[in-house]
Amino acid sequence: MGRVFVAGSINMDVVATAVRHPRVGETVAGDAVHYFPGGKGANQAVAAAKLGAPTTLIGRLGADAFGQQLKAFLTAQGVDLAFVADTAGTHTGTAIITVADADNTIVVVPGANALVTPEDVAVPELAKGDIAVSQFEIPLPAISAFFRRARAAGATTILNPAPAMMFGAELLDLVDVLVVNETELGFLANTELEATDDPARFIEASQSLSAGANRIICVTLGKRGVLALIDGEASMIAGRAVEVVDTTGAGDCFVGALAARLASGTPLRDALGYANAAASICVQRMGAAPSMPTAAEVVSALHG
Ligand code: ATP
Ligand code: RIB
Repeated sequence: MGRVFVAGSINMDVVATAVRHPRVGETVAGDAVHYFPGGKGANQAVAAAKLGAPTTLIGRLGADAFGQQLKAFLTAQGVDLAFVADTAGTHTGTAIITVADADNTIVVVPGANALVTPEDVAVPELAKGDIAVSQFEIPLPAISAFFRRARAAGATTILNPAPAMMFGAELLDLVDVLVVNETELGFLANTELEATDDPARFIEASQSLSAGANRIICVTLGKRGVLALIDGEASMIAGRAVEVVDTTGAGDCFVGALAARLASGTPLRDALGYANAAASICVQRMGAAPSMPTAAEVVSALHG
């Protein structure tokens, strides 16, 4: 069995729930405040670890109370933190999140995440069969260095370019599996896309990103499920009908679950169906990292 290595952000999510989102300039009364472990890197690592993959997280925390709490949580989820460094002179990444109507707004203040370097990702030894995962809440030079090492070792790379930002062909060339939502796909393909668009529009935009390379593109479409472009051929995995409480971390759950299944040698199409089921469980709970499902829960959703 391969292992999962995630180079990425670790945040404390400060979550306010309210009946509705405030408009710009408006104040609304909230219902509750929660402190949930989050950050795209940490969420994806927790998802992979809870689904049974040996998982190592590479990143940085501030030397503060949030950092200590996050370390205790991540260790309890079975994530290896040997390559997570405490960083003086900055704070642990913090996300300010509002949840209303089962939808969220997020402001992320990166803190220590912005200080992850190519040297940080140079130490863990990757091997053939391992899966290397990253997202865009740590600096791009660190991600490129991480994927170059992963490729040299024969590992598979998964990039979740979120939050969306432009990046060069040099990094895209290092990506085996690209996981985007419709907004990120539209941004990268330079076109306006809505979750409700015809699948043909997502296929066309995905093809412009695969650029003839043997790259797998997964477009997560919320309740509609996932559209995957594999060897130039599109297949749709339908979303599962569930009661949604909070979608924060759903994309991360999908990525972490996909990485875990690919590390275990599961064929790609089966791994996509599994990750879609895992993410449909995540949206039924509050919070990001704490809402990641166990393997038993995913099996029960798929076959129960
Ligand atoms: P977020 O930024 O909120 O983490 P995202 O935009 O990156 O999410 P989505 O496409 O919204 O990602 O969701 C990822 C996956 O989660 C979907 O492909 C699907 O498998 C699952 N999912 C999300 N929303 C729903 C829903 N309402 N019902 C069932 N499954 C869902
Ligand atoms: O993808 C969800 C995550 O984005 C949250 O946990 C928050 O920390 C932000 O990074």
